[in-house]
Amino acid sequence: MGIKIILGLQWGDEGKGKIIDLLSSEVKTVVRAQGGNNAGHSVRVGQNEYKFHLVPSAILYPNVLCCLGSGTVIDLEGLSKEMDQLENQGVTFHNRFFISPFAHIVFDYHKILDQLFEKFRGENPIGTTGRGIGPCYVDRAARTGLRIGDMQDEKYFEEALRRVLARKNLEIEKFFEAPCLNVEKFIEKQLELAKKFKPFIYSFEGDLIEKEEGVLLEGAQGALLDLSFGTYPFVTSSHTISAGICLGAGVPPNKIGSVLGVIKAYTTRVGEGPFPTEFTQEDNQKFDYEVAREFGTTTGRKRRIGWFDAAMTNFAIKLNGVTELALTKLDILDSFENIKICVGYSLGGKILDRPFFSGSVKDKLVPVYETMPGWKTSTRGITEYVKLPDQAKAYVEKIQSLCKIRIKIVSTGPGREETIML
Ligand code: IMP
Repeated sequence: MGIKIILGLQWGDEGKGKIIDLLSSEVKTVVRAQGGNNAGHSVRVGQNEYKFHLVPSAILYPNVLCCLGSGTVIDLEGLSKEMDQLENQGVTFHNRFFISPFAHIVFDYHKILDQLFEKFRGENPIGTTGRGIGPCYVDRAARTGLRIGDMQDEKYFEEALRRVLARKNLEIEKFFEAPCLNVEKFIEKQLELAKKFKPFIYSFEGDLIEKEEGVLLEGAQGALLDLSFGTYPFVTSSHTISAGICLGAGVPPNKIGSVLGVIKAYTTRVGEGPFPTEFTQEDNQKFDYEVAREFGTTTGRKRRIGWFDAAMTNFAIKLNGVTELALTKLDILDSFENIKICVGYSLGGKILDRPFFSGSVKDKLVPVYETMPGWKTSTRGITEYVKLPDQAKAYVEKIQSLCKIRIKIVSTGPGREETIML
């Protein structure tokens, strides 16, 4: 299948995890390209549930190699816990899990600064996950970051850490008036983590384009959280679109064979920021959060829910060069009488298909909806398209015609088998 990208086209949490899991059985290598443990998803296999933040979920397939690319930022302590938990569930990592030496490390001071910056933003927080992602990418751009490969030379690593920590402690103490980090304890912990992770360091980048078997590049977060094209400043600090994924995996763009965009049958967003199709209170009351499992895997925050936004999705499709779509969580709309789809935006009487969210403009953008009848019957677990109720088929086909891209997978439940392949 060549090199395939899978990414989310909304604000993250589109259900990519399940789709990646389904397609991972067809490849021999999976690379996570950007982001850190701000991401999170779970994969259900039979009675077992596995939780992922950094490790590609393809690790569940024993013959697949899993890699963390140069574009990722890695909290080694968090990764260590995640791996321990997976190991307790029977997953193995030896000789099949690799971390790019080019990836940057998230340290405790990044997490502390992330939380302090959020407090400092006062009434205008971004609603970050508090995992240190932004400050780590800031250090990367400022050339004060440390990379996974820097751990290979212990002396260099320790000296560099001491230098950076002195500066970070100053910032924490003098600017934010917060307690700084204990230098010796910090160094000791990092050196221990370095020892643990050294065997996993490997620069796999050049190998990927030579692989005969399929390679899957997995995106984290979603296109609308992209640092450049998302709803800035309410975005993450990495490039979540396909171009960012190429960069973060070290794969040249002309080697990409296909781009699978994952969309949820409705929209969700965690954290602050514009969300024009967000449910009214009345819609919210009809939404079953527990069944939909719309709580963040990383922070446990309740996600904000809204109608499917074809206008924003279309923009994301163009930005990413999407060649096929997967539609997830169709079953979650089972109980709705009517279902709305945003087909464009109106601003002062003018219709826009690609809104630019900024300043006061973002509050004046009014979504233009088309309303479709709901199907009011369970679609949970349906595996054949013909067995979907007519109204559900009409909804799927409406999304397909608005997006002008073929929907190849429809997901009707969290399990691997609860899937319609088209
Ligand atoms: P950060 O990535 O922690 O800096 O958070 C920036 C924004 O991205 C916040 O609104 C987060 O809620 C959001 N975000 C980060 N990671 C994810 C994700 O995996 N899914 C959904 N939203 C995310």
